[in-house]
Amino acid sequence: MAPNKYYPQLEVGNKNYTEAAVVIIGAGISGICTAINLLNNNIHNFVIVEKSGGLGGTWRDNKYPGCCCDINSHLYSYSFEQNPNWSRLYPGQEEMLRYLHTVAEKYKLFRYIRFNSSVKEARWDGEARKWKTAIEVTGSKDAEFADHYTLNSDFLVSAVGQLNSPYYPSIPGIEEFQGKIIHTSRWDWTYDYKGKRIGIIGNGATAAQVIPSVAPDAAQLTVFQRTPNWLLPRYDAAVWKPFRLLFKYFPFSLWKIRAWMMDFREAFFTVIQDQGSGWAAYAQKNSIDMLKKQIPNRPDLWEKLVPNYPVGCKRVIVSDDYYPTFTRDNVTLETNPIEKITKNGITVEGGIEHEFDLIVLATGFRTVEFMHPIQLYGANGRALSDIWRDGAHALYGVTVDSLPNFAMLYGPNTNLGHNSIILMIESQAKYIHALISQVLEARQQGQSLAIMPNPKRTVAFNEEIQETLGKTSFAHPNCRSWYKRADGKITNNWSSTVVEYQKTLSKVDWTDFILEGYGAEQLATKKRKTYLGRVREESLFTYRDWVFVMAGLLGTWGIWAVKGKGALEGFRSWVSF
Ligand SMILES: Cc1cc2nc3c(=O)[nH]c(=O)nc-3n(C[C@H](O)[C@H](O)[C@H](O)COP(=O)(O)OP(=O)(O)OC[C@H]3O[C@@H](n4cnc5c(N)ncnc54)[C@H](O)[C@@H]3O)c2cc1C
Ligand SMILES: NC(=O)c1ccc[n+]([C@@H]2O[C@H](COP(=O)([O-])OP(=O)(O)OC[C@H]3O[C@@H](n4cnc5c(N)ncnc54)[C@H](OP(=O)(O)O)[C@@H]3O)[C@@H](O)[C@H]2O)c1
Ligand SMILES: *[C@@H]1O[C@H](CO)[C@@H](O)[C@H](O)[C@H]1NC(C)=O
Ligand SMILES: *[C@@H]1O[C@H](CO)[C@@H](O)[C@H](O)[C@H]1NC(C)=O
Ligand SMILES: *[C@@H]1O[C@H](CO)[C@@H](O)[C@H](O)[C@H]1NC(C)=O
Ligand SMILES: *[C@@H]1O[C@H](CO)[C@@H](O)[C@H](O)[C@H]1NC(C)=O
Repeated sequence: MAPNKYYPQLEVGNKNYTEAAVVIIGAGISGICTAINLLNNNIHNFVIVEKSGGLGGTWRDNKYPGCCCDINSHLYSYSFEQNPNWSRLYPGQEEMLRYLHTVAEKYKLFRYIRFNSSVKEARWDGEARKWKTAIEVTGSKDAEFADHYTLNSDFLVSAVGQLNSPYYPSIPGIEEFQGKIIHTSRWDWTYDYKGKRIGIIGNGATAAQVIPSVAPDAAQLTVFQRTPNWLLPRYDAAVWKPFRLLFKYFPFSLWKIRAWMMDFREAFFTVIQDQGSGWAAYAQKNSIDMLKKQIPNRPDLWEKLVPNYPVGCKRVIVSDDYYPTFTRDNVTLETNPIEKITKNGITVEGGIEHEFDLIVLATGFRTVEFMHPIQLYGANGRALSDIWRDGAHALYGVTVDSLPNFAMLYGPNTNLGHNSIILMIESQAKYIHALISQVLEARQQGQSLAIMPNPKRTVAFNEEIQETLGKTSFAHPNCRSWYKRADGKITNNWSSTVVEYQKTLSKVDWTDFILEGYGAEQLATKKRKTYLGRVREESLFTYRDWVFVMAGLLGTWGIWAVKGKGALEGFRSWVSF
């Protein structure tokens, strides 16, 4: 289709079903955030394509027993849609999903989302300067209309997340098992696990939530642990009703508590980043003390549960009820390596066979292959698999070499261990809107513009963060973890604080890009930079602020006081992650 002079910024209807200004892949936290940003800027001709039958991404997929967040939701929520209603400091999956639905309804997002629509492939058409995205319609009724089609757009946004393709381990014999197998991110609630003999493979963040939740109902539960993890207490607690009222009627207090949570988490980064810090020793001691207190007189278990690598190089687990679960009669910790899966259960090295009705795979996700299994072909037909043959990388985690008019959220090196990912996602959505608005401005003139990062800038940026990451404790060669490739390159984590990242994305430096088409000259040589600013959430720490911070401190300690926990313990929980 020839470019339209007055490119209508209206919702995509039946007659232009296959033409949109922007296609967003994924309706999780990232896709929702990007869409709201476009709507706030009066752009309506976008489409969100979502593989599953509903929105929420992570928070729709992970319905396993015990699923909840590990960042306080007062911080793990959108800054522009803060929620005074959170029932707990770490609410469960259903409450998170309900929140996302409330937000989507408020912005009337459902009309922009095509559910049951999976992206298989997208190709850049250099001549038309458009993306051609191949959609497969997976809902059986919708497929009666058309089971696949191509969606054309000026801009393509990937919001597929890092944790959405389950990792199924290739254990010999797995297809022979005659009982039920469930991956935690595809929990089958039609299966009743009560009274069943359950084996669970894995002991990461997910397993640590599932194990205590299913143990009381299982006839027998065996946990297959390959590598032990360091654990810190969570100190979850209900949010006292008067606080919820305060948050509701004085929204400023909600901002304040958020700022205060942010300050602590940010301060914490500098601590975990430094391998030689006293914090590591403190955390290690804290973890062992907790273990010995929660499982007294069981040196056999202590030996199995204490890691032999430094804290911080793998993800630290936060849980109050993980260790005590192993004191239950019907719970066994198996540390012999798995040899094979049989018709009846799991056999470990040494020949012992455990029989099960249900095997739970808490084995995580395919994390280092970003965007798997979508095939992308950029300028001159270059495949993403070729661009990323040495590992995924992107300029500021957002734009990718050879992929014009493409951007991603929660991309390479934008993951965090210490703070809420939503803080990163919001700044990405804002930055991406700035790129989109230039492309659409060209379209308004009946012209087109292609924006693609300069590979030199991408390489330099990537080298810089790899160097910083190489000095941190999670680069330790002895640890295997999901944010690291087999060759040791860390493809997932951001290397600094959230505030640093937000500052990086608070402006678009047009000299970072190769620009072609309408307005390119103007942007590259005259304008050079577009300032976007950022949502400043951390405290300024003026005297006036201190008063609020102190009030917040006392208030939050009050929550624990109500729960009968000491103020000091409450304080410590803010600095655990
Ligand atoms: C159990 C669990 C707990 C977590 N807790 C926290 C926490 O407390 N704090 C924190 O900061 N982070 C947490 N995370 C990380 C979490 O993934 C991110 O914070 C955030 O939810 C990511 O949102 P997203 O929209 O980028 O990705 P996702 O939520 O993964 O959404 C991606 C969407 O894209 C869709 N999609 C994927 N491929 C395609 C395709 N080919 N075609 C069409 N659609 C597609 C998916 O169906 C999905 O709906 C947690 C993760 C897990 C698994
Ligand atoms: N909010 C939360 O609290 C929360 C909850 C769940 C998930 N998450 C997020 O999701 C991420 C992924 O967590 P996850 O627990 O699902 O995955 P994970 O951290 O990747 O853990 C996978 C587990 O499976 C084990 N495993 C994998 N393959 C195996 C095999 N072939 N044999 C035996 N064991 C095997 C791993 O052992 P090894 O350690 O030996 O590799 C590990 O214990 C987390 O890091 C976090 O960001 C957060
Ligand atoms: C909080 O609860 C009120 C009343 O139940 C509701 O109207 C509001 O939408 C909720 N807010 C969010 C963000 O969920
Ligand atoms: C998605 O597909 C399933 C299976 O065909 C169907 O039951 C469901 O209604 C569809 N959902 C939407 C929103 O189209
Ligand atoms: C634990 O195991 C014992 C013996 O196998 C069994 O009698 C008991 O019912 C089990 N407990 C639960 C809660 O299922
Ligand atoms: C790297 O990211 C992972 C995943 O969120 C996290 O568990 C780990 O703690 C991070 N490491 C650091 C030091 O930020």
